[in-house]
Amino acid sequence: EVLIVDTPEEAAAFAASAVLDGLRAYGTGNPVLGLATGSSPLGLYAELAAAAQRGEVDFSAARGFALDEYVGLDDTHEQSYRQTLIREVCNVIGLPESGLNVPNGNGETVAQIAEQAAAYDEAIKAAGGVDVQILGIGANGHLGFNEPASSLRSRTRIKRLASQTREDNARFFDGLDQVPTHCVTQGLGTVQEAGRLVLIATGSHKAEAIAAAVEGPLSASCPGSVLQLHPDAVVVLDEAAASRL
Ligand code: GLP
Repeated sequence: EVLIVDTPEEAAAFAASAVLDGLRAYGTGNPVLGLATGSSPLGLYAELAAAAQRGEVDFSAARGFALDEYVGLDDTHEQSYRQTLIREVCNVIGLPESGLNVPNGNGETVAQIAEQAAAYDEAIKAAGGVDVQILGIGANGHLGFNEPASSLRSRTRIKRLASQTREDNARFFDGLDQVPTHCVTQGLGTVQEAGRLVLIATGSHKAEAIAAAVEGPLSASCPGSVLQLHPDAVVVLDEAAASRL
């Protein structure tokens, strides 16, 4: 389902409704939410916070599963996705830190990080699966940190970051050389197991990636195109992000 609205604010409101409907449809108890970092979902999180204040939803016993994390950043580093999600999601919507799960990008060896990544997929399963996965999309079509050429059936694993992605994210660090080179990301196969996917994109810089994801061929060269395989994927766009459709 593709919803096109006039403004980013409306997109946030529609995406939040899609998340709440999805929690009602797929939730079997306390919400299990798949969380994305990035600027795209910030308005959506604000709308979820407002819904929680109105008593329409309660995240106090919810669990959150992050899409991805950098390799080699301490989990107290302010740019780690754990700290980012605590600031931008947990503290906003009232999801306790104890309910937040983030892939572990630290370990003594690469093999240890790989084992932790496999255990992360098991933890999602043990929680009963993600009810609703919130997604943004990278300008190159990436989902989470699944860069172009990621296997459409991939599981949570270590990946090298594309140079474009490192450049895009350098603004959060003291220079490009401080941006980690690798990450641990949920796989495209992992993401597709969520009950509902809700992707939000706004702005003309996302228009090309959205056109490829929504109307292009199903292809590993645009990881976002996996949404075409999902039985309940909702894509919410403002006019600018929809301008190439
Ligand atoms: C990051 C994240 C993605 C996110 C993307 C877009 O690299 N790993 O999950 O969707 O960037 O970010 P933004 O929403 O700020 O454009």
